[in-house]
Amino acid sequence: MKILIINGPNLNLLGMRQPEIYGTESMEQYLEFLKECYKEADIEYFQSNHEGDIVDQIQRVGYDIDEYAGIVLNAGAYTHTSLAIADAIAAVKLPVVEVHISNVAAREEIRRRSFIAPVCRGTIAGFGMDSYRLAIEALL
Ligand code: DQA
Repeated sequence: MKILIINGPNLNLLGMRQPEIYGTESMEQYLEFLKECYKEADIEYFQSNHEGDIVDQIQRVGYDIDEYAGIVLNAGAYTHTSLAIADAIAAVKLPVVEVHISNVAAREEIRRRSFIAPVCRGTIAGFGMDSYRLAIEALL
């Protein structure tokens, strides 16, 4: 089964961006580890800084329940603002697991609100990069 990991804005900077919050590992490095862990799964990765691109990706795979087990989505700051991404998740058939590297509940007030949480299968936050692996575990 395939799994699509989608990362939203600024997550292309993982490894360089605020390492005290997001760690020192790049997503490319972490993806190699994930692919080693889940040889049976076909892990696809997409990153964009643009809201509409994320909506397009959710729509692209969202009805393909024969090929995909689900979507792992770290929508970054769009988590806290995007009705369009929430609508896309609600529209499709595939389960979407919301992921955050940091513990958003322990940060600023604005990060405690998620537009996408109510339409996701569940949320995994605060386990560093391991949040992505735990989300895959939830889907397989
Ligand atoms: C994040 C948390 C968001 O609040 C933030 O805007 C991000 C990353 C996380 O993975 O911890 O860009 O989604």
